[in-house]
Amino acid sequence: MKTIITFFRLLKTAFILARHDALIPAEYARNVPMFMRFVGWFSRLFAVRDRAKNPGERFARALETLGPAYIKVGQILATRSDMLDPEFTRGLSRLKDQVPAFSRDKAVELIEKEFGKPWKELFTTFSEPKAAASVAQVHKAALLDGSVVAVKILRPNIHTDMAKDMDVLRMAASLGEFFVPASRRLGPKLFVKTAARAVMLELDLRLEAAAASELSEAAEDTGLFRVPNIHWDFSSKNVLVLDWVDGTAFSSDELLTGPKIERPALAIKVIQSFLTCAFDYGVFHADMHEGNLIVDADGELVLIDFGILGRLSEAEQRFHAEILYGFLKRDYQRIAEIHFEAGYVPANHTVEDFASALRAVGEPIFGKTSDQVSMAKVLLQLFEITEIFDMQMQPQLIMLQKTMMQAEGVARRLDPAFDMWEASRPVVEASLRRELGAEGRIADFMTDLRRAQKTLRAMPDAADNVAALAKAWAAGEVDLSKPANNTKPRAVSKGVVWAAIVAVTTLAGVWAVGQL
Ligand SMILES: Nc1ncnc2c1ncn2[C@@H]1O[C@H](COP(=O)(O)OP(=O)(O)O)[C@@H](O)[C@H]1O
Ligand SMILES: [Mg+2]
Repeated sequence: MKTIITFFRLLKTAFILARHDALIPAEYARNVPMFMRFVGWFSRLFAVRDRAKNPGERFARALETLGPAYIKVGQILATRSDMLDPEFTRGLSRLKDQVPAFSRDKAVELIEKEFGKPWKELFTTFSEPKAAASVAQVHKAALLDGSVVAVKILRPNIHTDMAKDMDVLRMAASLGEFFVPASRRLGPKLFVKTAARAVMLELDLRLEAAAASELSEAAEDTGLFRVPNIHWDFSSKNVLVLDWVDGTAFSSDELLTGPKIERPALAIKVIQSFLTCAFDYGVFHADMHEGNLIVDADGELVLIDFGILGRLSEAEQRFHAEILYGFLKRDYQRIAEIHFEAGYVPANHTVEDFASALRAVGEPIFGKTSDQVSMAKVLLQLFEITEIFDMQMQPQLIMLQKTMMQAEGVARRLDPAFDMWEASRPVVEASLRRELGAEGRIADFMTDLRRAQKTLRAMPDAADNVAALAKAWAAGEVDLSKPANNTKPRAVSKGVVWAAIVAVTTLAGVWAVGQL
């Protein structure tokens, strides 16, 4: 029964996409099998609502209509220019995460239900909504002890709504893998699974509170940024209470005009706090867009919104620091070796070829400030290289690069002459010095012994497989006469597929007649 209901929801989704010519956008029709091309052509009969030229933008508009789960998935897709058409992801990145707020009364009702007492016993004041996004909204309030706080509340019914939408996306991914074999390379089912997990994590605000407290350790140690204090006693799965931050939001125009704001210094803080967290603490704020950054009255950088946290294992921290360092030193051979050591590049390529591809990216930008170089373009070039060299992109690596791009964009807006390399150099050097310095050297012998093993363990499965395969290959243990076990056909029940075809055609017919 649930499958049927999900299926009908999927149909509705398909129709809304079709209305925006985003089901199989005309621009991509020739990349799909004949049958899908027909579906695309047919769906365009209904495409009346959206004439945007960019297919990503049309897709974004459709997702906004479809609701929170789709918006979240769209945001994740927008960061994947490594596997999707960059033109498409550019359009998709215009996706708006703003939805109408629910009322203050409703918010108060939710709070009272959550804590089992009248709101007056928790707060002295409680404002109208200050900001509303797809999963939560924020109110300003005062606690009985006088602290001024931000109260973040999840939307009512968000858990069930998300679960339903995720079922639909799972079904769509299965059907997609079945009908469009080319899509399998992108692993839509795995993508939906990972996205669903990321989204579900955002739906428990206790995890956000924990993330905030984890980052606050790095903040205190380094003094580069600040994290508002969390009020754990007033926080639960659906409600998060943290100190209200007074200051200038990075998204406001005042950021660029305010007389007291030291913009170049602030730009450096943005980059350095991100890199320090990533390379020295292995944990970083992975959503550093302007809505989540504030500069307070003392000129301190304050981070808010800890829904997405990036993590790097020890091996990955060192790996990424070495890569950046390699670029700073223009030591492309070393960067290439690191990639091979970590098993990121399959062993059928040579270190030298890879090094010269990296040189092609690195040399033109060396010594230029970031107003002359677009980091986004550099990353795109790097992604192209990953494709040529059959590299499996690691989700953490993508997240790190995406956040670096975000942070660089923010820094550059603050200071048009901002120099990304100069700002990152001290952090990267310090991080490597610590690894290789006095204590580092003593530990190095043991580390080197353990390193290969540790790196392998730290990499997620894909790289693991590549590295293991490379090793086995070198040892002559690979038997090509046996099929690899990851090529087994994807399981989608034939019944569902046929039901899908019949139902789509029937409903489309009914719809078409209704339109006449
Ligand atoms: N502690 C805070 N102090 C001041 N404003 C805040 C605070 N927390 C959130 N806000 C405001 O609410 C907005 C949304 O909060 P945020 O935590 O970023 O939620 P979302 O996950 O929905 O983006 C922020 O962009 C900011 O304007
Ligand atoms: Mg936010």
